[in-house]
Amino acid sequence: MGMLACNPTLLFHVGVSERASGAIAATNLVTPSPDLQQVRGDGPWPEESAEQAVAWEEGLITYVGPADDLAGVEPEWFEGCTIAPGFIDCHTHLPFAGWRADEFEARLSGASYRELHGEGGIYRSARMLAAASDDEVLAFCRSLVQEMAEHGTTALELKTGYGLSVEAELRQARLARRLSEEAPQTCSVTLLACHAVPEGMERADWVRVVCDELIPAAARERLVDAVDVYVEDIAFSVDDLAKVARCASDLGLPLRCHADQLGPSDAAQAAVALGARSADHLNHVSATGIAALGGAPATVAVLLPTSTLFLGSSPPDVRALLDAGSAVAIATDFNPGTSPVLSMPEAIATACSLYGLRPLEALAAGTVNASTVLGFAPERGTLAPGRPADLVVLDGDAFRMVPYRPGHNPVVRTFVDGERVGGR
Ligand code: NIG
Ligand code: FE
Repeated sequence: MGMLACNPTLLFHVGVSERASGAIAATNLVTPSPDLQQVRGDGPWPEESAEQAVAWEEGLITYVGPADDLAGVEPEWFEGCTIAPGFIDCHTHLPFAGWRADEFEARLSGASYRELHGEGGIYRSARMLAAASDDEVLAFCRSLVQEMAEHGTTALELKTGYGLSVEAELRQARLARRLSEEAPQTCSVTLLACHAVPEGMERADWVRVVCDELIPAAARERLVDAVDVYVEDIAFSVDDLAKVARCASDLGLPLRCHADQLGPSDAAQAAVALGARSADHLNHVSATGIAALGGAPATVAVLLPTSTLFLGSSPPDVRALLDAGSAVAIATDFNPGTSPVLSMPEAIATACSLYGLRPLEALAAGTVNASTVLGFAPERGTLAPGRPADLVVLDGDAFRMVPYRPGHNPVVRTFVDGERVGGR
């Protein structure tokens, strides 16, 4: 293992047609079990098998199994490569409009994220979004979602949270829907209704407006698929989360929560008690929060290791989460403030080196478990007949090559619904 280079250019290309039908085979294939919607605690983790093929017709997988047993079609062969389900990035802050590299530099000179919150931070991204036209926002984001496809992302979350008024949040949600229509991937839109308290407003007043106006308006227009709250001392409280949860639930929208990121707030256990789909970040999750997530069938612990790295935060005790029985997902948290990283291979590599996840645990976290967070399971996130052909070809002969080589883009091909959308 590890000796053969993956060199698809030497191979003949007969398997993949323009019409979302195709067949590929490779030295290795890895997938979480298609029988589970999430992998909890101690597994079962995805398994690797040698010399396997995948075939699909009209975007749906028709065959997964030994390359030798595939009949009727000649697969495109990827020597030294691994076929895996496409990555699912279940936590991003796209669409946004512009970078904040100067804040990164200021933090390296000693400023904290909390200190920058105001002139900079979420408020600044809100000002940049407001200053950009719809076309400018879409042009900025279009190339980023394509870059995500080049890094193997086949489904992703889009979020609001840089609007900070009812109209601006609805505008961002509409932009997210438009981006979703243009993106090569399958997208889910989250209303991050409570991200920062709008300037000149009291927190409680904004929460009231969110529940009375913003969430109902977004639901009426069918703009969003979930609702998120940032629980933090600089943002919103667990009580605010409960109020938003009630409103979202009345309108049939699942709840998500930025929990225990900069400091402990008991948000993780609150998210579990409220039946949230996810509690995200978790850098300061308490033992009570870990136990709650361990026993929560509905709530996935979403790990965002590149924001931990970028902010220099302390990592959560991920082994304790797994030992407690939690389902963990990995995502990029792609945003201009805490994680300007859009690569799922990089997020997976960081999760392994910084959080101690093992490669196949990380694969489940970046595919099937992330799919559950976005409501895409069981269709997306595993490889099995009847499921959409969302898959990647990676240039190592074992999945461990992905976290072993941070900084390297391992993606040779990306397919969404059987269409080639990225690769080299
Ligand atoms: O998930 N912490 C809250 N929200 C984002 C960062 C947003 C920003 O800095 O623009 C996060 O890390
Ligand atoms: Fe986030």
